[in-house]
Amino acid sequence: MKHFFRVTVLVAILTVLIGFGLDNVDYMPVLASVQGATIDALFQKHIWVISFLFSLISGFMLYSFVVFRQKPGEKGDGDHFIGHAGLEIAWTILPLGIVLYFAFIGAEALAETRREDPNAYQITVVGSQWSWRFDYEDYGFSSTELRLPLDRQSLLTMTSTDVIHSFWVPEFRLKQDALPGEGMERELRITPNLIGDYKLRCAELCGLEHAYMVSDVIVMEISDFENWVEEQSESPSDDPIVRGELWYEQYGCLACHSIDGTARIGPTWAGIYGTEELLTDGTTIVVDRDYLIESIIDPQAAIVDGYGGVIMPPTGASLTDEQINDIVEFIESLAE
Ligand code: CUA
Repeated sequence: MKHFFRVTVLVAILTVLIGFGLDNVDYMPVLASVQGATIDALFQKHIWVISFLFSLISGFMLYSFVVFRQKPGEKGDGDHFIGHAGLEIAWTILPLGIVLYFAFIGAEALAETRREDPNAYQITVVGSQWSWRFDYEDYGFSSTELRLPLDRQSLLTMTSTDVIHSFWVPEFRLKQDALPGEGMERELRITPNLIGDYKLRCAELCGLEHAYMVSDVIVMEISDFENWVEEQSESPSDDPIVRGELWYEQYGCLACHSIDGTARIGPTWAGIYGTEELLTDGTTIVVDRDYLIESIIDPQAAIVDGYGGVIMPPTGASLTDEQINDIVEFIESLAE
């Protein structure tokens, strides 16, 4: 009984020391959303359970090392007992209770992060290999950066044009997969509560450039946000080349094709227009309007030698004829 009392005190002291120690470590990035607070509260409870379990095991072990140490000349097994019904019942019921408790508060937290605000701001998030696009459909424009108003819920509807991507802004704490296919849209609700610039990262391995699939996330005062929306909503330029460059950025062409000659996964667009290229089947073609349009709509039809193993996503499917035309005009403008 004397040993039991001492160990209990030792475990309690260790738990408090480790718990407070871990609680003061800045292991999380700054918290920037209302929903994230729920997640952090869960984390904090887990930290205390972890501290207790670690102390329980190491406390008993340390105490035994010191107090029950083999004395010189001692050869036997030492005092021990085999089987203890009370102990076994306790270590079955106690963990079961803890697990059930955490299942309960976990479900509660999940419901809390999904609480709907009928005035939520609607934005569609489109993931493609390997870029993000944000459609502000109510205002008729798209953007390559995600801007959100402060202290107002935004309802993000996720979708993908090719494979599974995952929307993850560490400062918001929540994560949601973006799945390809009709009817596979997923929702995420975020109420940002701290002005700042954050980074959206893709958190699902989605191919070669997965690690670079990032976008800027900017949380703004409502008035600044509204000004920005107004600016963006103005009809796009009359110049097809300017529009083409916009589609180049928004539809993710830039992930694989540079416009300054830099080598990326796909051929650079700088100076490509009008050149003669050798194809994988041994024939040659001239890069003209028809070839470019075909390459956008059916990327696998005729591939330039050296790019045989590269799979271009069928980006053309999400572009209108006019947008494709703008992109071709833009590529044409890059010929020197
Ligand atoms: Cu998209 Cu990883």
